[in-house]
Amino acid sequence: MSRVVLFPYPAQGHINPMFQLANILHHTIGFAISVVYTQHNAPDISRYPHFQFHLISDPVTDDNSLIPFRGNAINVLNARCARPFKLCLARILSEENNATVRCIITDAMWYSTQAVADELNVSRIVLRTASVHSSLVYAALPLFHQTGYLTSMEARAEDAVPEFQPIKVKDIPTFGAKDQNSIVEFFSNVFTETKRSSALIFNTFEELESPDLAKLRRQFDMPVFAIGPFNKRFSAAETSLRKQDRSSIDWLDTQAPQSVLYVSFGSIAAMDKTTFLEVAWGLANSGQPFLWVVRPGSINGAASAGSEVLPAEWAEKVSGRSCVVEWAPQQEVLAHSSVGGFWTHSGWNSTVESICEGVPMMCAPYFADQMINARWVSEVWRIAINLERVFARRDVEEGIRRLMTTAEGVEMRRRVAALKETAAACLGPGGSSYEALVGLSKFIMELG
Ligand code: UDX
Repeated sequence: MSRVVLFPYPAQGHINPMFQLANILHHTIGFAISVVYTQHNAPDISRYPHFQFHLISDPVTDDNSLIPFRGNAINVLNARCARPFKLCLARILSEENNATVRCIITDAMWYSTQAVADELNVSRIVLRTASVHSSLVYAALPLFHQTGYLTSMEARAEDAVPEFQPIKVKDIPTFGAKDQNSIVEFFSNVFTETKRSSALIFNTFEELESPDLAKLRRQFDMPVFAIGPFNKRFSAAETSLRKQDRSSIDWLDTQAPQSVLYVSFGSIAAMDKTTFLEVAWGLANSGQPFLWVVRPGSINGAASAGSEVLPAEWAEKVSGRSCVVEWAPQQEVLAHSSVGGFWTHSGWNSTVESICEGVPMMCAPYFADQMINARWVSEVWRIAINLERVFARRDVEEGIRRLMTTAEGVEMRRRVAALKETAAACLGPGGSSYEALVGLSKFIMELG
């Protein structure tokens, strides 16, 4: 039996697609799976009795400044995890009773694993958990740095970036870092090491990002496998780091078809209290039923959920047409017949999940690839309204009305329904993702 060793980056939006990929490789193709993981955001390994797990000594757990998306943390994590990962991988490779290890598959964020793979003479395939279009923008960050975009972002915020229509200068991901050099260095490491790997996997499908896939293939000159949407092969529910509150499904069962706006900003995005209240009052004033995920930490600096700042008059106004939970079974929610729209932060997993269920979106992107995804869904695929980053309750109310009650919203729903069908078709025999997975399977078998 052939074995593949996977190393997910320890954040919800990266763990979900890596485990979905693990399930695809195991259940659909038949590979044995080993997963290397950190204590920080550790998966519930009891849910995967059919995989082998290896915990590496973990520099994240005891050091709060190393929360995976904060400041320079990603560079430091790469530096600190490389050695424990190497020792662990060497052990896996030397275990006599182990099946042949064909390759490792690591998140693009774990750029330091390429040197480990080289040293141990094993092939590395990269899983990029973001979209192809945003990856092309990330790969151009060093160029943006050289041409001055990153030093004059405020003055040129609304300018178009001609090479990457339709993004604007303000959409270039800088993670709000004061030290832009570390971000540029990080992404240049990510893409230099990705280009040295054996192949690249994306949770996307050919028909969705065909021009960008073609551009990426030219630029990277390596095999690129678009085998998504992962969520239509295996749900991400099993790798949820928080308990999904199923009362949201019971509540959706009581609502009229396509009447509910689902509101969730993913696992990391947080807003200040003023913006949080603008969201709350926009939802209340829209008159539309809504299911709102208010995750602990949704308000900057507050460890508690955030919903306790909602005033009594707000609760009175939304009574009977609202459901607020800390975490929801998102894929099931999006597939529910009562859901008619998704107000999202435009994380890539959420975007793909929404497309797969034919749900049009309203976007309020926060950081990283989210601004780029929001441009694509609103201006390229035209299946969303983009509120952008700064908004007031009136914008929220108006956006919800446009999405849920106007002919413009109906058009978006029609377009996303067509994409949903394409997404489903590409997974069947002869479909683009089906064939790409066959290709990936052969490619892995020829390694090692
Ligand atoms: C992060 C970045 O924000 C994102 O831009 C990047 O593409 C990946 O890493 P995150 O913010 O968590 O991810 O967003 P997203 O990519 O949308 O992933 C969130 C995941 O959590 C989705 O799979 C979603 O189904 C799940 N989720 C979300 C739940 O299970 N329940 C919820 O209530 C909300």
